[in-house]
Amino acid sequence: MILSETDVATRVVRWQASHGRNHLPWQQTRDPYRVWLSEIMLQQTQVSTVLGYYARFLERFPDVRALAAAPQDDVMALWSGLGYYSRARNLHHCAQTVVSEHGGIFPRSAQVLATLPGIGRSTAGAIAAFCFAERTPILDANVRRVLTRVLGFDADLALAKNERTLWAHAQALLPSVNIEAAMPRYTQGLMDLGASLCMPRNPACPQCPLQTLCVAHREGEPEKYPVRTRKLKRRSEAWWLLVLQDAAGRVWLARRPAAGIWAGLYCVPVFPLRSDLSAFLDHLGPDSAQSIQEGAPFLHVLTHRDLHLHPVIVRYGGDATPGDGGGWFTAEQIGALGLPAPVRKLLAGL
Ligand code: ADE
Ligand code: SF4
Repeated sequence: MILSETDVATRVVRWQASHGRNHLPWQQTRDPYRVWLSEIMLQQTQVSTVLGYYARFLERFPDVRALAAAPQDDVMALWSGLGYYSRARNLHHCAQTVVSEHGGIFPRSAQVLATLPGIGRSTAGAIAAFCFAERTPILDANVRRVLTRVLGFDADLALAKNERTLWAHAQALLPSVNIEAAMPRYTQGLMDLGASLCMPRNPACPQCPLQTLCVAHREGEPEKYPVRTRKLKRRSEAWWLLVLQDAAGRVWLARRPAAGIWAGLYCVPVFPLRSDLSAFLDHLGPDSAQSIQEGAPFLHVLTHRDLHLHPVIVRYGGDATPGDGGGWFTAEQIGALGLPAPVRKLLAGL
């Protein structure tokens, strides 16, 4: 390979200083708690959305001990709307682990950071590079795209051995001089390149600092990278949502199971079939449903699944408690609970 490794790092570092993002709140600190929080939030959520959540989180939980000591419901409530709720549960669990096993101090190496709940290899690398200038790579989806293109790396990333090889390339491309200043900037620069120029479709090669060394650009087909054969199988499901309201307008909610979709969040009862929902109502008593109103169905898209949500709004007039492990909640109480965003929206529109 003719490509000179220092060239890539030097160009990315220079480009980041003049064209990258340098004023995001989590870039104004080397506090690993703050950087970690931002990286977890940014994993599946765009910067513009994260900004508000990040500020509210830090106001409520200014350090890792405050977060670790909080009830899980408070954490879930503040996370509500960001989606991918396993991130919030892992976040809380991670804070507790940092306190119980590391004396409240985040570990300083990527290798140890990666042992913590919810911190994968790339996130560990980002925290270590940003906070401690460790000479360690990252390989999130954006960076994977940039590096496979620059290198012309066309091996199938569905295979673990190819993924390992790409990590080794990422390590070899790291800055080799002035590490203390270069590592945070290089790491951010790769992220910024992937987010602003080296996009999945129509990368802006003419503005890219790596253009003259980029194999994919030279080949003329950057969009063919990264190569990954295994396709995610998407499934489609109908979910019937029973919105039970009592005479006072309170809504019946119960905690979702600890695993699976919307795990641990408060939710209205969910049924796979309309007939299951009817059977449940019958079981509550013949006259318990004073009125039944079919809401407009709507689509909610998850990573591996399309949920077709069908709300059924029922005015409950029965005496029996509708089920175990749930309760009646007022609109005000619901505001303080962790709910899936589409369910919160549905209830807000009643
Ligand atoms: N996405 C992941 N990490 C990021 C960061 N540090 N800045 C902007 N976007 C990001
Ligand atoms: Fe991506 Fe084009 Fe830059 Fe290559 S030259 S890294 S394909 S933007």
